[in-house]
This record gives sequence, C-alpha cells and structure tokens, in this order.
Amino acid sequence: MSKIHARPLNPLNPGLGAVLEDVDLNNLSDSDFDAIRTALYLHNVVCIKSQEKLTPKSQAELTRRFDPEAQSYGHGKTIDAKRSILHPDLKTVPHQPEVQVIGNGFVADYEGLKDITLKHPHHRTFHKTVIPDEEDLDCTRFYRWHIDAALYGRLNPPLVTSLLAVRVPAGRTQTLLYDDGTGDSLQVPLGTTAFVSGYTMFDILTPDQKQFALNSKIEYAPHPYVWMSNAKSRPDGLGMVSEDRELALNDLPPIESAADIQILPMVWQNPITKKFALQIHPSVVRKIHCRDGSIIDNLAQVRDIVHSLQRPGIAPQYVYAHDWQEGDLVLFNNHGVLHSVVGAFDKNEVRLFRQCNLAASSPPVGPEALSAQCV
Ligand SMILES: [Fe+2]
Repeated sequence: MSKIHARPLNPLNPGLGAVLEDVDLNNLSDSDFDAIRTALYLHNVVCIKSQEKLTPKSQAELTRRFDPEAQSYGHGKTIDAKRSILHPDLKTVPHQPEVQVIGNGFVADYEGLKDITLKHPHHRTFHKTVIPDEEDLDCTRFYRWHIDAALYGRLNPPLVTSLLAVRVPAGRTQTLLYDDGTGDSLQVPLGTTAFVSGYTMFDILTPDQKQFALNSKIEYAPHPYVWMSNAKSRPDGLGMVSEDRELALNDLPPIESAADIQILPMVWQNPITKKFALQIHPSVVRKIHCRDGSIIDNLAQVRDIVHSLQRPGIAPQYVYAHDWQEGDLVLFNNHGVLHSVVGAFDKNEVRLFRQCNLAASSPPVGPEALSAQCV
C-alpha cells in the first residue's frame, strides 16, 4: 500500500492540480507508481516537490512508465524541420534524446549542452497584436494554448508530459491580459505554465455543443507546425487569426502517405474517471469531420467553431497557473488538459527546465459512439 498522498491545490477544483507528498522517485514501487498514475488522472496536473537530483534518464524512465510501449520523443524528429514553429524553443539533451531543455538566457554547460542560449517564447513573435514594449515587463499573455503532440504521421499524442524546473528566476507577478474584448485578466507568477482542464471545457458546453463535440472529429494540417508558421495567433493564444497566411500544401515537406494526416476525435476519454475532455489543438486545426459525413473545410469557419467551443474553458476562474519553484517536477495529463507558456523574461533572467514526453503507443480514446461509427 503506497504512502503517497495527493493534496489538491484548490479544494474547490480538485480536478486541476495537486501536490504529491511522500514520493521517493529513486525507489518507486509498483504501488507507488499506481498511486501517482491515479493522482494524475484524478487531478490532471500533479507536482512532486524537491526533485533537484532527478537525472534526465530517471525523468525519461518515469515518463515512460505511464506508457511502457512508447518509444520516441513526442515530436519524433519532426522539429528538425527548420521552418517548424517549435524548432527554436527546444534543445535536446544529447545523452537522453527524449528529454528537451527549454528556458531563457545563457547557460554555459548543462547535461552535455555547451554555451546554449535559451529563449522563452514571447507572444510578440506569435500573436497578431502585441502588448506595447513599455508594459511588457508588467503585462503578459497566454503564448499558445496547446496539447504536446506532433499531430502528424505515426506519432500519437503523448499521454503524459513531465516538466522539471531546474532554475527559476526570482519571482514577481505579471498581469495576464486576454485582450479579446472581454476585459478578462489574471494575476500570474512570472513564467508560469497555465493549465486548463479539457473535462471542464467539455462540461460547460451547451447540450448541443456537447453533441457536436462528441460526434465530430478534427483533421489536423499535414506538417502542422510548418503549415501555420506564417500565421498569427489570436490575443488569447487560443488558435490563429485567419488571413490566408498558411503555407500551400505544395510548399510543405512531402506528404508521404495520406494516412499521415491525423483525424482525431474532438473529445478524449480519461482512462480512470471515464470522463470526456474536449481536446483540440487550436493552432493547427484544418477541417472538421461531422457525424453525417460532411466536412467543414472553410478554415476561418473551422477556427471560429473551435474557438467558440474552447474559449469558455479558459476563462480566468478555470485557469491553474503553476507557481514554479526549483525542484518542482510537474506531470500533466496531456490527453486531458491544455497548457500554455506565459510570461516575458528579461535577457538576464535565467530559467532552465527539462521537458519529456513520448509519442503514445496508441491513439487517444474517443467516445464509443464515434469509434463504432467510424470503424
Ligand atoms: Fe507544451
């Protein structure tokens, strides 16, 4: 019987965020791991404190334990494509290629990486509109709401992502602006990672929207992160503005097989609670496949539909903004939450994180009705 205890971070919303206590990752029995897995699928984001000594190898092994058949990093080698929007943000640990280093500032030597300069993604490089420079250190935005997933080829969306905070700059807070005409804002710790629950996002839909979501699939673009690399984001970080800036298909790397294009349910099931999460990566949606066989392929319309389904679920009261401390190891259910980088760092604010996820050994589980209909 495991001693591991999960303490919800917000007792009013235990489905999003818990701290795990009494965890010894170097000596993790099967029952301890089961307790962590259960906590992960009940709370969807769990933080294990004081893991400064966790090696990249142990991080990869723990991450793989959620999906022992999983092999490669969640994006495989797809981020090598120079035009991918993911390319600048990630540096691979040479001796543990499933583990990526992310962060901000200059790092002379870390796990075999020498003289690297990390750059915390800034909304200025991705959003259509930006916060003026003079407000930049006080105000911020959600950079990009997403699921960690290649969404192309044979790479299934990873079940779990682990994030270890190695170095965290001294804390201050920022005001996060939605800048979408609602006046919504949120006070957040500097460089937080923001999470929202896909289960809540689904639960608060109208009955008609739920039926639509349960019975529809999303077709993602081929080479999705290259395809949308010239497009700009909405100010809330929840999908792109439609200005015909996507790359034409013949300007993309070759599409080797039509089967490489991923068409996934809008709604993914939690393996323990059996609840449904609305899980859509809004930046790279291309088409919606409806239950009656029709396909919505007008990109602006597709994006508007997806935004109308997702936006209520990122309202301030539903966001969990993790206040990082060095040694925090956060595991999140990548089939049940969306997350976003947040914040603007100064060049001298050094931040160093390690991220690991693995392309899942099987695709997300959609609603049964949909699976039955699509066989
Ligand atoms: Fe991510």
